[in-house]
Amino acid sequence: TEPLRLGIAGLGTVGMGVIKIIRRQADLLEARTGRPVVISAVSARDASKDRGLSLSNYAWETDPVALAKRDDVDVFVELMGGHEGAAKQATEAALATGKDVVTANKALLAIHGQSLAEQAEAAGQVIRFEAAVAGGIPVIKSLTEGLAGNEVTRVMGVMNGTCNFILTQMQATGQGYNALFEECAKLGYLEADPNLDVGGIDAGHKLALLAAIAFGTKPDFENVQLEGIQRITLEDINQAADMGFRIKLLGVAQRSPRGLEQRMSPCLVPASSPIGQLEGGTNMVVIEGDAVEQIVLRGPGAGEGPTASAVLGDICDLARGLRIATFGQPANSLQTIPAAQTGMP
Ligand code: NAP
Ligand code: HSE
Repeated sequence: TEPLRLGIAGLGTVGMGVIKIIRRQADLLEARTGRPVVISAVSARDASKDRGLSLSNYAWETDPVALAKRDDVDVFVELMGGHEGAAKQATEAALATGKDVVTANKALLAIHGQSLAEQAEAAGQVIRFEAAVAGGIPVIKSLTEGLAGNEVTRVMGVMNGTCNFILTQMQATGQGYNALFEECAKLGYLEADPNLDVGGIDAGHKLALLAAIAFGTKPDFENVQLEGIQRITLEDINQAADMGFRIKLLGVAQRSPRGLEQRMSPCLVPASSPIGQLEGGTNMVVIEGDAVEQIVLRGPGAGEGPTASAVLGDICDLARGLRIATFGQPANSLQTIPAAQTGMP
């Protein structure tokens, strides 16, 4: 059987997690997909960095665009990050040279997802991005496959592991932001620019992607009403706790008579509620549809293993020949309400 040959760009937390699973579970992946899943080539900035594993079996490319164009690559796996520069150029190069793309890059897709999806469709390729939203929780697959018979009315939840970790650990330990940033870095949760995490921007990217899939619209990050957690103090958290509440960075995207509302902001939730009880890097996504009513998905939202798990889910789908695009063809004319006019309670 023909192997599925990967080119992996980005050998940090997620990239090395993916390589570890492919090595550890080679037989399982072949049994599940019917063909070997192999790595042809890898790319990162620093070829001399010790990454804890020998990568000498794979061709090395310092330039990810060169990796994306290689003839021995069927699927380009983009795990570098950033919405401009290398990630965008290499993704475009991969699509232009007949490769499918798997990425964990929510910033790239929230901002350029529509044009990349159109480029992919024109080229007969697909872009898959399960790992971009809520880490290890297969929320995109749930929306596009299991819930395909529903008209979704609302998606909401906690979608940034760093913020949830900081908010819960501040309360549990009294530690400040700097000490908790260090812990998040060790856990592999942080974005390259942690302001994206605490500013709510990373979670806003994820909400824009989920909304696009759930409501059949174009991703519209610009119109997510956004507020981060930087202004939340230990005193705020303790006062909320005294009243029986927790502060969570909560996102909501919902259909209203005026259009699609999207908001990501710190909210008070009852301490005893399922969202109130989420600890550490855990995420939760609640989906409401006309037929299913409500489902709740909960699990690790960041870190090496959970994120690599989601990347492998997409790779296995492609190995099986399931080349289903998740957005790119807006299914209706639902308009996003401008952020300034979003008046959700
Ligand atoms: P990371 O640990 O910082 O790793 C980034 C990797 O990309 C590094 O190996 C780096 O090379 C390489 N890289 C960066 N710019 C490059 C360039 N211009 N050319 C070649 N290589 C380049 O990041 P990560 O945490 O694995 O995250 C990767 C992606 O997954 C991001 O889009 C992130 O948002 C997303 N994601 C992360 C998580 C998570 O929990 N960490 C969860 C979901 C999604 P060097 O090692 O040589 O510097
Ligand atoms: N920085 C992100 C988070 C990684 O903390 O949730 C997972 O997308």
